[in-house]
Amino acid sequence: MSEAAAPRVEGSFVRARLGSLVAILPLGVWTVMHLWDNLAAFQGAAAWEESVTRAGHPLAHFGTLLVVLVPLLMHTAWGISRLRTARPNNARYGFFANLKYVVQRVSAVGVMLFLGAHVWKAMLEPRYVKGHPETFADISYQMAHHTPTLVVYVLGTLGVTYHLTNGLSTFAVGWGLVGSRRALQKLELVGWLAFAVLLLVAWGVLFAMWRAGR
Ligand code: HEM
Repeated sequence: MSEAAAPRVEGSFVRARLGSLVAILPLGVWTVMHLWDNLAAFQGAAAWEESVTRAGHPLAHFGTLLVVLVPLLMHTAWGISRLRTARPNNARYGFFANLKYVVQRVSAVGVMLFLGAHVWKAMLEPRYVKGHPETFADISYQMAHHTPTLVVYVLGTLGVTYHLTNGLSTFAVGWGLVGSRRALQKLELVGWLAFAVLLLVAWGVLFAMWRAGR
């Protein structure tokens, strides 16, 4: 390898590692906290707005942008490059792991479309076009009276929770955190449990909003 080529290879290695790392920290951790905060929907408008949209300090909102949107863009750029090199072989090898490989990539596309719409409609448009953060009255009205919104949220949260919890094991393998088949099987079980819990939380929140908006 020429000397000139070496830094480029190192650079792309670091970028690839970073694209994977930020998916868990801060993105995955923040996603879990965000879903959890949304459970305040069961307690009504004031509790939900306090928990989800109120920033204690004017700079806190920009902190969120930095801690969430920048890693999301980094991971999305990394993910798109992984999508471009994906070579599914399910027709020849019908293993469950190969199916999960495809579902992880299909969910990535769904999550990308969902998050684009969600970040715009629930954060940027209310704050920067309408001049105030999203209100509980508005989001719950949409859930109850605009079926496409409800369907997009039901499918979008399914995609996000699957993509994140299935990604736990590929992440652990990629970073050499699991050393045996048995450890990987245990981790996959944890992933499925986390998927069930997170999906219950997410769909519970949607139910609470739908009920409040009727
Ligand atoms: C809340 C948003 C997201 C979270 C929490 C998230 C989380 C994860 C995690 C934990 C992994 C496993 C990482 C690894 O194997 O090292 C992963 C993989 C992946 N993500 Fe995301 N992701 C999100 C959004 C996206 C978006 C918008 C895309 C769009 C392209 C995307 C594309 C991918 C792809 C293609 C993989 C598979 C990479 C591979 O196995 O080679 N992700 N994601």
